[in-house]
Amino acid sequence: MEVSVSHVLHMNGGTEDSSYAANSLLQRKVISMTRPIIEEAAVGLVSSSSFSGRHLAIADLGCASGPNTLFAMSELIKAVAKVSRELGHESPEFQVFLNDLPGNDFNSVFRSLHGFKEKMKRELRIESPMLFNGVPGSFYGKLFPSDSLHFIHSSYSLHWLSRVPPGLEEMNKGNISVGSSSPSSVLKAYYAQFQTDFSFFLSCRAQELVRGGRIVFTLLGRRSQSPSTMHYFYVHQLLSVVLNQMASEGLVDQGKLDSFNLPTYMPSPTEVESEVQKQGSFAIERLEVWESSWNPYDGEVNLPESRQDAGHNVARCIRAVMEPLLVRQFGPQRKLMDEIFMRYRVILSDWMAEEEANYVNVTVSLSKP
Ligand SMILES: C[S@@+](CC[C@H](N)C(=O)[O-])C[C@H]1O[C@@H](n2cnc3c(N)ncnc32)[C@H](O)[C@@H]1O
Repeated sequence: MEVSVSHVLHMNGGTEDSSYAANSLLQRKVISMTRPIIEEAAVGLVSSSSFSGRHLAIADLGCASGPNTLFAMSELIKAVAKVSRELGHESPEFQVFLNDLPGNDFNSVFRSLHGFKEKMKRELRIESPMLFNGVPGSFYGKLFPSDSLHFIHSSYSLHWLSRVPPGLEEMNKGNISVGSSSPSSVLKAYYAQFQTDFSFFLSCRAQELVRGGRIVFTLLGRRSQSPSTMHYFYVHQLLSVVLNQMASEGLVDQGKLDSFNLPTYMPSPTEVESEVQKQGSFAIERLEVWESSWNPYDGEVNLPESRQDAGHNVARCIRAVMEPLLVRQFGPQRKLMDEIFMRYRVILSDWMAEEEANYVNVTVSLSKP
């Protein structure tokens, strides 16, 4: 039976050890790295004649919960406040929409808002209202009224598809995503799903954005045009190795593993560009491809002992993201999840000791002419 991703996907909520809030430094670093692109787009928007200057409606799509949720929005608000000052204008009223799927821990987000607003006002020395709204729902659908938003941001969310492509259960046994042994029909099915989803995403956003509006998003991608290079996405490959090993030992149900596939697709820059062009509503202001290390603590000194093991860091990061999907497929037993991620940590450590474990990001800045 096909299950829509919007009913099952969410990051680990709360603030405990295995929560997304406690294990999302990797994603935070990505937002930091893209700050200049966010700022550039904000400056472009605020200085354009289509912006009235009184009210700025901004949205973060796939905001999750934890310290990153308000981070991108705070960077954007800071950039707008700075340009407004430079142009001799008052800062606009900020209306901030935080979107994610209904299973997201919105309560944690809402609880942090008061402190966030106070901090922003102190830092920026502005009195402009900052009005927050939670928007539960899939960004593969309309979320906002037409012509109502000025700026849309999304980080690390758009490589999630709306569903596992149909037919994969039979085609992709032994793999949980595009694996080295996946037949070409699997690659085609994933790519077709990405095209449908991404194009629909762009159409919805085109309706919601005002003329002159901006979108900046970053997603996991790949450099090479050839889809078969997707199996170099080793973190999925290695999780697949662990699950297959556990199935052969009878610890994971083989039938459940055979039918498990991740609803993710890592596009090449050309694939992103071609969908934007086909959809036709946006101009590409920037499209950057860049790499970062899977270990967010790479290069840092004086780390606590637990953070010195790269495999441990990456396993925790992936657990915070994947655990709800794995629990749904294989059952909620804590011991089972601990065993999966203990083995995953070991195999990741071995890989990371051998190779420079980097992954590819695609960051895109669009404007609506
Ligand atoms: C890895 S988290 C990234 C969170 C945050 N933006 C960050 O950078 O830390 C991806 C988020 O995208 C959300 N997401 C995935 N598909 C979505 C969809 N169709 N609509 C809304 N949110 C979605 C997930 O629920 C998850 O919270």
